[in-house]
Amino acid sequence: MGKKLYIKTYGCQMNVYDSDRMADVLTPLGYAPSPSPDGADLVILNTCHIREKAAEKVYSELGRLRALQEQRRAEGGRMIVAVAGCVAQAQGEEILDRAAGVDIVLGPQTYHRLPEMIAEVEGGGARVLDTEFPAEDKFDFLPEETAAPGVSAFLTIQEGCDRFCTFCVVPYTRGAEQSRPVDAVVREAERLVAGGAREITLLGQNVNAYHGAGPDGREWRLGRLVRRLAEIDRLDRIRYTTSHPRDMDDDLIAAHGEVSALMPFLHLPVQSGSDRILAAMNRRHRADDYRRIVDGLRTANPDLALSSDFIVGFPGERDADFAATLALVTEVGFTQAFSFKYSPRPGTPAADIGDQVPEDVKDERLAGLQQLLRAQQDAFNQRQLGRDLPVLFQSRGRHAGQVVGRSPYLQPVHVLAPETLIGGIRPVRIVEIMPNSLKGEVVDAPAREELAVA
Ligand code: SAH
Ligand code: SF4
Ligand code: F3S
Repeated sequence: MGKKLYIKTYGCQMNVYDSDRMADVLTPLGYAPSPSPDGADLVILNTCHIREKAAEKVYSELGRLRALQEQRRAEGGRMIVAVAGCVAQAQGEEILDRAAGVDIVLGPQTYHRLPEMIAEVEGGGARVLDTEFPAEDKFDFLPEETAAPGVSAFLTIQEGCDRFCTFCVVPYTRGAEQSRPVDAVVREAERLVAGGAREITLLGQNVNAYHGAGPDGREWRLGRLVRRLAEIDRLDRIRYTTSHPRDMDDDLIAAHGEVSALMPFLHLPVQSGSDRILAAMNRRHRADDYRRIVDGLRTANPDLALSSDFIVGFPGERDADFAATLALVTEVGFTQAFSFKYSPRPGTPAADIGDQVPEDVKDERLAGLQQLLRAQQDAFNQRQLGRDLPVLFQSRGRHAGQVVGRSPYLQPVHVLAPETLIGGIRPVRIVEIMPNSLKGEVVDAPAREELAVA
């Protein structure tokens, strides 16, 4: 009998990937994904703990779900609510205490055990809390993907992090760094491509720390893995995220010049341009190291565009430190970026540093940084005007007759063209620059008849 599953995903792309894997695990139990929690038999919140705001969202969502749960009960049914992901890992007991409607709390490493947990709850047992880091590797127990992957797919190749940046919860919520074997990654990539994916984004909390067991019995680093994946027929685009500057080795940098499927766009978080702050963050590199890595990447591929993450208002950050961040941004030039106010996270070393930056100073710095980053992004987008960019078409647009794809630099590109383009790459001439996307025309536009048929 069909059951409705609603999964709400917060946080990073790894959570997006994990949510799909949880859906895979639940398919044999008769659960099919539903677009809303109304009438759902099972609701999973796949949560993020990275900043306080992200974590707090979960509790307000649980509050809203409570009403739906009551309604379901009044109708003689049942809505099971599970909290998964990084808040679950960090605050397991607290969630059960604070949210009476929650039946299951499970950490990121135990998704393969979901069927047992559900059976326990359905059997009238107690609420389930499973935030272990089990000895078994969940990837060995997760079934193969069930849903069609879509044109652009995620593939987690590495999980956890051993870097322990002093602001970050990830090493605690995701555990120690672990890489999947090369063969398992290649097989999954081949299945995704067979299912229609033309682009794969390799995921990991620290993806370029990848060191999976190769078929030759040696450890392969990310550069080698990328080269191997590029041999897969019809895999046109490869990306990877998120990287740490310290783990950008020479072979990976060289791959950016040698592997044409590797897209000329890299998200390489730097967090700060001040050496003093980078040291306090335990990033273990200096601003100049970052500059050198960027130079190397641009030597390998002069078309490379960069994106980054920044934290403003890290404890002890002075005006001079912030000025160093602005200087680095000005010098390097980013085409996209995420910037955040430092958010103290319980259990992380930086939360206990006395010298916290006042909120209004953080606000001011964030606004200044974002203004600079926005100007760089706008300038980069403007430079695309009149260029022909290869666009991978992924979906229908919001307006009739429109299809949307992505440029090599991940910019959304809208064109008026038949839906038959979805799933393929076409050259598009950029004709208009919108605030967050580009408009274009397919260069070898199909004849009018073809448009009419589609
Ligand atoms: N693994 C990635 C980042 C994962 S978290 C890396 O090494 O860079 C994504 C981003 O969230 C980080 O790059 C950082 O900019 C931001 N972030 C992490 N912890 C934060 C905190 N406590 N306060 C504010 N921003 C934070
Ligand atoms: Fe967090 Fe990234 Fe640092 Fe790891 S490398 S601790 S995930 S910020
Ligand atoms: Fe958030 Fe966990 Fe990802 S804390 S950013 S969901 S690894």
